Amino acid sequence: MDELTVMVCRGCCCGSSLKHPGTDHDHQLDRLRAAADSTPGASLRVVGCLGECSSSNVVVLHGRGDRRATWVPQVLDDERTAAVEQWINQGGPGVSAPPPALVGTTFEHRAPRNTRPPRPTNVPELP
Ligand code: FES
Repeated sequence: MDELTVMVCRGCCCGSSLKHPGTDHDHQLDRLRAAADSTPGASLRVVGCLGECSSSNVVVLHGRGDRRATWVPQVLDDERTAAVEQWINQGGPGVSAPPPALVGTTFEHRAPRNTRPPRPTNVPELP
C-alpha cells in the first residue's frame, strides 16, 4: 500500500485550457507525476471531477495514516505547482509541514462531495 496518494483532478474544470488558459496543464501533470515517481511510497492518480470546480486546479494529498485527505486548491502557477512537488517529495501531510507557499491555503475535506467545504483563506478569487 502506498504511503502517499496524490490525486490530480482532471475533470471538467481542472486541467481545462478554456477555464485556465495561462496554465500548462500537461506540463503540470508531468511535473507532479515525476515528483510522485521520485518519492518512495508515493503514487499519483488522475481523477475526474472532485466537486470543487471553483477551486480548480485541485490536487489532493492523502497519506496512509491520515483520516482525511488534504486538498490543495488553485494549483495554477509555477509557485504552487513547485510547492506541491516539494510537499510530495517531503512525504506529504502527516510527514512534513506544508511548504510556505501552501500554508493557510489547504483544507481537509470534511463534507460529503456534494457539500461545499470551507473556502481556504488567502487564495485569490478566480476571474
Ligand atoms: S474538475 Fe476538478 S473539481 Fe471539478
